[in-house]
Amino acid sequence: MKKLISSIFIFITCTLYLPLCFAGEGMWLPIFLKSLNEAEMQEMGMKMSAEDIYSVNKGSLKDAIVHFGGFCTGEVISDQGLLLTNHHCGYSAIQSHTTLENNYIKDGFWAASHKHELANPGLYAKFIVRIEDVSKQALKGVNNKMDEAARQSQIDQNLNELKKQARLNQFEEIDFKPFFKGNQYFSIVTVTYPDVRLVGAPPEMIGKFGSDTDNWVWPRHTGDFAIFRIYANANNEPAEYSEDNVPYKPKHHLPISMDGVAPDDFTLVFGFPGRTNEYLPSYAISQIVDVLNPAKIAIRDAALKIVDTEMRADPQVKIQYASKFARIANYWKKWIGESQGIQATDGIGRKQKLEAEFLAKLKKNPKQNAQYGKLLPEFKSLYAEIEDYALMSDYYSEIVGRNIEIMRGASYLRNLVNRYESNGERAYDDYKQRLISRYFDGFYKNYRSEIDQKVFAKLMNLYHQNAKFDIAAPLKPELFMINAQPDEAGFMALAKVRFENTILADKEVLYKTLSMPPAKAIEKIKNDGLFQLASKLTEAYNENVAKEYSKINDKISKNQRLYMKALMEVFPEKRFYPDANSTLRVTYGKVDGYQPRDAVTYTPVTYVDGIIEKHVEGDYEFHVPQRLRNLHALKDYGPYADETGKVPVCFIGTNHTTGGNSGSPAVDAHGNLIGLNFDRAWEGTMSDYNYDASICRNIMVDVRYILFIVDKFAGAKHLIDEMTLVNPKAD
Ligand code: ARG
Ligand code: GLU
Repeated sequence: MKKLISSIFIFITCTLYLPLCFAGEGMWLPIFLKSLNEAEMQEMGMKMSAEDIYSVNKGSLKDAIVHFGGFCTGEVISDQGLLLTNHHCGYSAIQSHTTLENNYIKDGFWAASHKHELANPGLYAKFIVRIEDVSKQALKGVNNKMDEAARQSQIDQNLNELKKQARLNQFEEIDFKPFFKGNQYFSIVTVTYPDVRLVGAPPEMIGKFGSDTDNWVWPRHTGDFAIFRIYANANNEPAEYSEDNVPYKPKHHLPISMDGVAPDDFTLVFGFPGRTNEYLPSYAISQIVDVLNPAKIAIRDAALKIVDTEMRADPQVKIQYASKFARIANYWKKWIGESQGIQATDGIGRKQKLEAEFLAKLKKNPKQNAQYGKLLPEFKSLYAEIEDYALMSDYYSEIVGRNIEIMRGASYLRNLVNRYESNGERAYDDYKQRLISRYFDGFYKNYRSEIDQKVFAKLMNLYHQNAKFDIAAPLKPELFMINAQPDEAGFMALAKVRFENTILADKEVLYKTLSMPPAKAIEKIKNDGLFQLASKLTEAYNENVAKEYSKINDKISKNQRLYMKALMEVFPEKRFYPDANSTLRVTYGKVDGYQPRDAVTYTPVTYVDGIIEKHVEGDYEFHVPQRLRNLHALKDYGPYADETGKVPVCFIGTNHTTGGNSGSPAVDAHGNLIGLNFDRAWEGTMSDYNYDASICRNIMVDVRYILFIVDKFAGAKHLIDEMTLVNPKAD
């Protein structure tokens, strides 16, 4: 009876209020699962309770989940702290241990025993101890008449107070985060383990199989996983790396299901999604699709074309630029898919429909109308007002902040100068040491000035052509500092002079400068032509664009906060989930294919046979290792094949995920590990703004493929022996 009522309830809410409610949409706070989601999840087949997923009092799934280095998710899969995450999340750790003799990127790496596991300074695993709603305390004394700055300072004061009062055990830290656009605040208590060692990684031709061509694409055949281990001191407490540390004993580790998935199976993904924006008004979405995405795509397109040509011409460049290229290409491709998806699913129309409903409701309620009636018209004019600034801001951050490589070095030098001038020599020295070891050492390994100059000429020309001089008239001469023709040839000529005579041009010259007495070094930096150009670009941007941009943005944020509040009040029957903000969330859905376009239907599971189909001898993206081809030819699959004798590789589901969910576990109805999240299908990447169950799919590696590679391909059976394998379907 209870089930019947809840399914009727779900049926009614989801049919009447489709835009904000669908089984699949939502990144839910683990502490509210009981009240908001449990009934629906069980309806969809889940056999656990909310308490099994998140509990403060007993071991629960959450005790196996970590924020991996702050940028990905990982999960504990043995009682000895074995940790699973993506190959692309562990990539820089793997790369940092790679040399020409020991090429772990190319050949993979498997530690034969604990003492061969490799330390990674700076990498950490952060567990969540508890999450609490502190909205009341955080917003004490805040009222509608305050301006934004006063509001924020009141909140900061409240949070400081809360922090002082917090009762924390040794090693626990507390953090506070705004949710629902600042209408609510939550405290998050964590414990961080700083000794995380590399245990195993497949060769790149498995872990990154399909590389950029297949990135964001279904059907997919990537074994995007890597294995680490958390270490602790003898008392199982967090400790910096030490030879005396021992494998961490977790409160919970995920059992691993050997039974696999079938279409419509319940799936739950638990992790740390980074950023979404689901409650934007239609005006914002139009701006993204019509103005901002096309500009960012064009900039990256131009830069990628240059780098691609150079990589094809020179194998050395190929090695140096592969990872940078992948990083730039990743979001370039995502934005293209995002814009197309919004168009294909009428994302703007759906927002407009919701806004029309919202206005209709306001009309019937004079009090709410008085409070919220102006929000949408205000959004309209604010987004019109911000458009040029937003565009210039994207130009600046893409061009100066990201794609012209040398600009970042210049901005670090600017920080260095600032340190020296405001904090003196000690601060200067500290910062200098850090800069060298954490940035410049790595930077010069993979830097080619001639390529960067070409990118500079191309992008500065784009910047110049598209600059909005009416909002930033004083920008012109300052910004471009060019006496010659402002075209590509002119910018190339400028590059020649500035790039070739700068102390940043090569490592020796820079390090020599930095080894001088501080006052001397600072003088040299300040007289550097490229440093001056970079500084002018930044100053001009800060002065002419950033200030106004952030002023309008503040108004938009305020409106957005009120709009969020309004939506929750005007549609009290709807369930709302907060935008992703790198905090722990649960999303759930089911294994499901989709129809990307007319007459094309995707099924939800790929197999090793598909890897073999994609094999291209010698290709840098699609060459399949001989050993894997042999295992396939002999069907030497061990216990990892499904009932039809094939080994599944990846599968997709309707779970609502985003960047940061990489490495998140996908678990079955009982909480057993079935897959490892690593990507989304291209057509549905607009789920960051506008989830649509018809095409939004997350992509996971099937855990049986992971086990197959670890055991049969790599011969690391001892790792399998650590894990807890279960057969939930058979049992
Ligand atoms: N698209 C995935 C994510 O956003 C994977 C990126 C890494 N893989 C790659 N081929 N670049 O992060
Ligand atoms: N690859 C992404 C990550 O690194 C996950 C893909 C997505 O954006 O959903 O987090």
